[in-house]
Amino acid sequence: LDNGLARTPPMGWLAWERFRCNVDCVDDPYNCISERLFMQMADRLSEDGWKELGYNYINIDDCWMSMDRDEQGNLYANKTRFPNGIKKLADYVHSKGLKLGIYLDFGTHTCGGYPGSIKYLQKDAETIAGWGIDMLKMDGCYANVSDMSWGYPDMEMYMNKTGRPILFSCSWPAYAGGIKVDYSVLGKHCNAWRNYDDIQDSWDSVTHIIDWFGDNQDVLAPAAGPGHWNDPDMVNYTAIGDHCNMWRNYGDIQDSWDSVTNIIDWYGNNQDILVPAAAPGQWNDPDMVGGGGGDGRDCMDLLTKMFSFISLIVGDYSLSYEESKAQMAMWAILAAPLFMSNDLRSISPEARTILMNKEVIRISQDSLGMQGRRVIKGTNKVETWVRQVQTKETYAVAFLNRREDGMPYNHTTTLGSLNFTSTMGYEVVDVYTNHRYGHFGLDTKLTGDNKIETWVRPIERQDTYAVAFLNRRSD
Ligand code: DGJ
Repeated sequence: LDNGLARTPPMGWLAWERFRCNVDCVDDPYNCISERLFMQMADRLSEDGWKELGYNYINIDDCWMSMDRDEQGNLYANKTRFPNGIKKLADYVHSKGLKLGIYLDFGTHTCGGYPGSIKYLQKDAETIAGWGIDMLKMDGCYANVSDMSWGYPDMEMYMNKTGRPILFSCSWPAYAGGIKVDYSVLGKHCNAWRNYDDIQDSWDSVTHIIDWFGDNQDVLAPAAGPGHWNDPDMVNYTAIGDHCNMWRNYGDIQDSWDSVTNIIDWYGNNQDILVPAAAPGQWNDPDMVGGGGGDGRDCMDLLTKMFSFISLIVGDYSLSYEESKAQMAMWAILAAPLFMSNDLRSISPEARTILMNKEVIRISQDSLGMQGRRVIKGTNKVETWVRQVQTKETYAVAFLNRREDGMPYNHTTTLGSLNFTSTMGYEVVDVYTNHRYGHFGLDTKLTGDNKIETWVRPIERQDTYAVAFLNRRSD
């Protein structure tokens, strides 16, 4: 979307992954979705050095509204949790030199059950512009997916008409694809279609796919027949970039390394479609997928011109130190919007250092806007990803260690074997340690090691009971 915004992947903070739809301000006033939470996060962004690095959007997600519109049909915020209203909050955020993002849903209701925008697109565009909103994430719960191909463009037009520049983050592909495709139409044009991610060499991946098929069997089974078959892989995408600055392709990120690698795999597996889609003003957002849409042919065009947006979970509960570095590095390589969803009031110094790494941010924000690619998948489970950056003959290279065997692993390669070609050689710098390795010819050996640690504490005394509440939630 060429509205002058998001020329590089946008950066900021988003409430959803960490604070969800917590509306309990009586028992949990510190963490509930309220103006207080957003003001506190705005304080942190502006006072703790985040803003200067580019983290300048502060984004409200679902559950901010009152349960009903007012008598004129206008949206307004829950009066207990946002007693001063959204305009005042926007003024506060702007006074800190930041921008405020908000959430609407294209359907009849938001996913959390609050009023949807389907009959009020123009009114809601005018309302948020009047409040001074700078970014809109438009979700797609409780919507007719076939309406999205006119509805999202209409919303963009209405926002444009207000004259206020509003960055548009569309969840359209995440809903228009996969199961939401009209399979009866699809079957008329194709002999087979891929519905889901590439299978990987793991039981996890197998069960993931089986679950998806089981959960969606009512739609999938009748669609299959001689000459047209479901294939558990992904559908294609296309043309949302004309109307959106960024779009989500895949499911929500959860607070786990599994979720991070799942998303990275999806990007690598679909890079031939996703990479050309990313460019200044339009970015793929690595939250999770759908694919396809309409009659199954136009989907390819819908994605070709955008960047993606998936929250950084660095600083939350689940990722180890090495995994956190890996997520930050990979989101930079993927030219993904850098939206943290963590608690900036209590973030650890280690997580903060990772998220504030200037060199990694420089790669993320490179003005060439080229999304990186997985160039080697690696039989040794070490993947190599490369993103070209603006400066001539400069590349960001990530070695992503997917091994789970617990011991440090030496990975050796040469720049020549990664298809680097300059016979003058290259200067190699580790952007996390700032270590300068010096000059490398195409045949110089490059070695790195990496370890993901896990440990268990033994119980020693008799008559002592260890009681564990094992939280298997990954939100
Ligand atoms: C579904 C989206 O995928 C999430 O990111 C979040 O916006 C929730 N809806 C809110 O209900």
